[in-house]
Amino acid sequence: MIKKCLFPAAGYGTRFLPATKAIPKEMLPIVNKPLIQYGVEEAIEAGMDTMAIITGRGKRAIEDHFDISYELEHQIKGTSKEHLLRDIRSLVENYTFTYTRQKQMLGLGHAVLVGETLIGNEPFGVVLADDLCEGEGKGVLAQMVELYKKFRTSIVAVMEVEGEDISKYGVIKGKKIEEGIYMVEDMVEKPSPQEAPSNLAVIGRYILTPDIFDILRATKPGKGGEIQLTDALKVQAKQNMVIAYRFKGKRFDCGSVQGFVEATNYFYEKYFKQ
Ligand code: G1P
Repeated sequence: MIKKCLFPAAGYGTRFLPATKAIPKEMLPIVNKPLIQYGVEEAIEAGMDTMAIITGRGKRAIEDHFDISYELEHQIKGTSKEHLLRDIRSLVENYTFTYTRQKQMLGLGHAVLVGETLIGNEPFGVVLADDLCEGEGKGVLAQMVELYKKFRTSIVAVMEVEGEDISKYGVIKGKKIEEGIYMVEDMVEKPSPQEAPSNLAVIGRYILTPDIFDILRATKPGKGGEIQLTDALKVQAKQNMVIAYRFKGKRFDCGSVQGFVEATNYFYEKYFKQ
């Protein structure tokens, strides 16, 4: 039902310099897999087949990753290492990867609007690859697609955040309609703890209906002088309806060093340690 997933991936990743000087932050690995591949696998699990990636200057490694590497495959064919490329090869063969460049970094809302050309007039998923999620039972996007079938509106994934950390996120004010499901009444991008309308913070998983593009076109720069997706969602919540969903599972903020190290330890312990 939702076939396309947008990956805004043009940001500079300044928090990880110098590692991100020549490597896109989305290509930083958690153990042996780049962050963006975890996101792509989550989108596929949710039934999506087209990955629409917003890149920028210096991001060509992402395109090379989701492509065939004849030389490398020829080199390891018939060796004990062949299986290491199997999963990524099957992603490349079975799914579509489309790209467009965001030429100026004018904010997440702007990045999503740049993606209109890849998405068209249909509902779509959005994954911010530096938020690495492991859903409980099924992936976070798959949980949201289930909910979309019922509500047919934009959906944001939220989690409870206590204290000062709330000011790192978009924060919702919502009316609880079912356990873990809220109708969004207001949203504030990166409020101070005093201004925060609740402790429910938006994480980097969204399902958006395509009317968001017209709203984004009319959205003026907000917090930090950037065109904020939060501001457009707030308008959408008033015009139509937006649902906030307290997802089931874990989320690691791999845009921060601490979250990155926590994710590395968690995935190593769970999937790699013999
Ligand atoms: C973006 C959004 C913010 C959201 C966050 C989730 O902020 O603007 O609303 O809570 O992603 O990770 P960023 O972290 O890109 O500054």
